[in-house]
Amino acid sequence: MTDSEKPQVVIIPEPVEIKRHEGLFEITKKTSLYADTGLKEVVAYLQELFLPALGGEIPTTSKTNNENYIHLLLNSDIPKIGGEGYILKISEKGILIEGNTSAGIFYGIQTLRQLLPKEIESQKAVSNIKWLVPSVSIKDYPRFKWRGFMLDEARHFMGTEVVKKLLELMALHKLNKFHWHLVDDQGWRIQIDKYPKLTEIGSKRELKPKRGEVQNTEETNVYGGFYTKEEIKEIITYAKERCIEVIPEIEMPGHSSSVLAAYPELSCTGGPFEVPTRWGIFADVYCPGNEQVYDFLKDVLDEVIELFPSQIIHIGGDEVPKIRWRSCQKCREKRKKEGFTKYKELQVFLTNYFADYLDSKGRRLMGWNQILDENLASKAISQFWFGKVKETVVHIESGRDTVMTRYLWTYLDHPYKIISLKRAYAYEPIPKKLEEKYHNHVLGLEAPLWTERIPNEKRLYWQAFPRLTAFAETGWTLKKSKNYKIFKKKLEIFLKRLDILEIDYATLEEAD
Ligand code: ACM
Ligand code: ZN
Repeated sequence: MTDSEKPQVVIIPEPVEIKRHEGLFEITKKTSLYADTGLKEVVAYLQELFLPALGGEIPTTSKTNNENYIHLLLNSDIPKIGGEGYILKISEKGILIEGNTSAGIFYGIQTLRQLLPKEIESQKAVSNIKWLVPSVSIKDYPRFKWRGFMLDEARHFMGTEVVKKLLELMALHKLNKFHWHLVDDQGWRIQIDKYPKLTEIGSKRELKPKRGEVQNTEETNVYGGFYTKEEIKEIITYAKERCIEVIPEIEMPGHSSSVLAAYPELSCTGGPFEVPTRWGIFADVYCPGNEQVYDFLKDVLDEVIELFPSQIIHIGGDEVPKIRWRSCQKCREKRKKEGFTKYKELQVFLTNYFADYLDSKGRRLMGWNQILDENLASKAISQFWFGKVKETVVHIESGRDTVMTRYLWTYLDHPYKIISLKRAYAYEPIPKKLEEKYHNHVLGLEAPLWTERIPNEKRLYWQAFPRLTAFAETGWTLKKSKNYKIFKKKLEIFLKRLDILEIDYATLEEAD
């Protein structure tokens, strides 16, 4: 075999350690799969992943064998690789993936996927191909435990099939947190049984076809959509099978026009309001002086908690104008009663109220960095996107956790002219001024996709890829192993996989 015929080893994100050996292994009709009990979900995933292209399922066996095998073994004491790491060994006889947990083995499977010819991504059986993988030993584990992607479905609603496709792409990239922005001014996208008007009224707005919005409701001239509880459960299960945690975001107290359109009594003025069709920051927000608001939000969170197993619940907290609070009798009284001198303290009060509430339910509050305050509940996680990183550093040094998403580096909705692929790749989540002993409080990074200017699926993929591929490498790969030149070379080959997955990414010329 000449060098040019040798299967390439192109893995994104770059693993910690790769050793190449002579020889190859071929997956054939005779290959069988043995897995430890406790790996049923991972086995089902692997079989389903490879089935379409192989044109048949890799059969399982009840014993390990010495020829033509894939072995998935749990081994609870592999040092250094943690809960998400794996060891992958490929010889001419077979493939062995070991991990301390099923998540580790799952990521080993993602690496195996990338060692196979790109045609493995095909949804139709591929004939005339040898499913060869190079002989390698790989030891691998992630740099960060939070490797996130956020999708805003309030501005534009994508629906179950698109979300599932994105989750599968996240899995390919070893991303593990899907932050689901389900609520914003322009739409409420989650069924809440106790408050049906949230979806009856809050999920709909006037359609604007000229900006590319597609009619996705039965009603004429109406743009909208929401997820039923059944659909949400289906998505959470699909995500879990891919080792992805779904973190719902329910915005409060700002970005809440869609709620106020349905329940105007939760505002300071009483309304009436419409679900807005323009973008921006709106003055009307929840009234923190009104007890009804706390009861409403507790009821909503109760249903959210029942649906989402995630330990973390995101409450937004960004961009909250205080203008209505200043001229509201109830807000003034609340401020006096609590002894606050500033209206901002009402937001801190509300945030801490729900931090305690979530804590009482065994959950943890997360919010954008505008929730930061010296009196913020200590368990709250902040998500840095905007403003002075110094405030976030102070927050971390008080022992709190943070996820980094600096907007001029990580926002996938920004044009490539502002955030080129190269710039995206260069993003470093750990703030320069943060002492090393606090580094573990930087849980990781996330790339948000806000969809004001992303009315459809095609545009979504173009904005997200390949920048999300770059963020995935930063989230997983050791800092010292990152190299943009090598990444770009690998990307040329990796993108051919996305072609087969029918993803309209930005080309390398467009992206840089
Ligand atoms: C944000 O971009 N408003 C969090
Ligand atoms: Zn008020």
